Amino acid sequence: MDFFQYRDGQLFCEDVAVDDIMAKVGSPVYIYSKATFERHYDALVEAFAELDPIICYSIKSCGNLNIVKLLADRGSGMDAVSGGEVYRAQLAGADMSKVVYAGVGKTDPEIEASIEAGIGWFNIESEAEFENIAAIAEHMGKTANGALRVNPDVYDAKTHAKTTTGKKETKFGVDIERAKRFFQSYGHNKHCRLTAIHLHIGSPIYSPDPYVQAITKALELIDGLRAEGYTVDTIDIGGGYAADYESGKSPAYTAYAEAIVPLLRGKDLQLIIEPGRTISGNAGVLACKVSYIKTGGSKTFAIVDTGMHHLIRPSFYEGFHFAWPTKVSAEHVPDKRAKEMDLPGLKTYDVVGPICETSDTLAHGRALPPLKRGVGLCFFTAGAYGMVMASNYNTMQRPPEILVDGANATVIRRRETYDDLVEQEREVTAV
Ligand code: LLP
Repeated sequence: MDFFQYRDGQLFCEDVAVDDIMAKVGSPVYIYSKATFERHYDALVEAFAELDPIICYSIKSCGNLNIVKLLADRGSGMDAVSGGEVYRAQLAGADMSKVVYAGVGKTDPEIEASIEAGIGWFNIESEAEFENIAAIAEHMGKTANGALRVNPDVYDAKTHAKTTTGKKETKFGVDIERAKRFFQSYGHNKHCRLTAIHLHIGSPIYSPDPYVQAITKALELIDGLRAEGYTVDTIDIGGGYAADYESGKSPAYTAYAEAIVPLLRGKDLQLIIEPGRTISGNAGVLACKVSYIKTGGSKTFAIVDTGMHHLIRPSFYEGFHFAWPTKVSAEHVPDKRAKEMDLPGLKTYDVVGPICETSDTLAHGRALPPLKRGVGLCFFTAGAYGMVMASNYNTMQRPPEILVDGANATVIRRRETYDDLVEQEREVTAV
């Protein structure tokens, strides 16, 4: 559920018309709904309340400082994946003891800064990394906490090959069979306390089943480790819960919770959850304008002023984003967000961007209300992995980000200028 709705044929984010925002800040623009972020966060807390989890919002999904701050203020911990994201968490005033830091290639300065910041856990991705973190902590005279990331060899067949991570053959974590040996080597280390197990099987995962399988395997591992005298007090089950890209296709938090909570009840484990897109995905849209309509063979192209440089998911993962005009006649008010729309008088378009790449296509063969130059078009469920993956390819400016709270809209990141784009190239210095 989100707060992007049509009122009298006009798309609103909460109480602000998307077209009014575009009239003020221009096009394209990322628009976020504060109430949607809050609703998603609260719904997750409520669904898993029995286990009192630490929720670590995945900064990588939508990392604007103001958004990280709004979730930190609501009590969320953070899932960081780089020194930069740990820095964002700090700037946002997050409780650093509720920050987990994953990623296979953490550098020494990133590790040092994270230990200094007092983060909750490093998600440990390899033996070599463990040894490095422990050595750095020892050198600093501090103790770090580690959660061993295990690959349960479970995955969801529906998850795109580029975003599945729970299989054995990924660069992430260690095979579950190797986990015992890992604890035998490092389970009593004094500088990095290895007392947690971390899982992240990929994203988006469209059913609770892969989580059930993965957690079941992790619990067997934990039982075995405890029997051998190791302390394991925390389980981090990762993120990947599916956002509502299409109406009614993704389970609610309650469905995941109903399957997961019974497995962990009474296990004396602190639960950590790392949601990204279920919190941020439906909380944001990318609104743009149609620049030109043109035909090519049997196709009609709607060329828009945004593209793969602002929203790469369609080109990179064949990701589906529902697209619809910001203003429509009564018969074209969408009753759902779906690949197939059954409304009168629709026309089929390929919606493409201005980038000099054939893959710069945001929507293939999409039935839409008739479009013309200058109309607003909105890509929904773009809050997650939208702006954060945007680039300046073709020396294009990245869009501004606007946060709507009721009837108020605030610019939380201004549009880049051409000067911003060349800034770091102006001064040349000898190496
Ligand atoms: N935890 C870990 C360790 C992760 O690697 C990720 C995402 C998450 C949590 C959050 O997953 P979420 O709940 O947001 O699905 N750019 C791709 C997704 C890459 C996901 C990377 N890891 C996309 O646009 O679909």
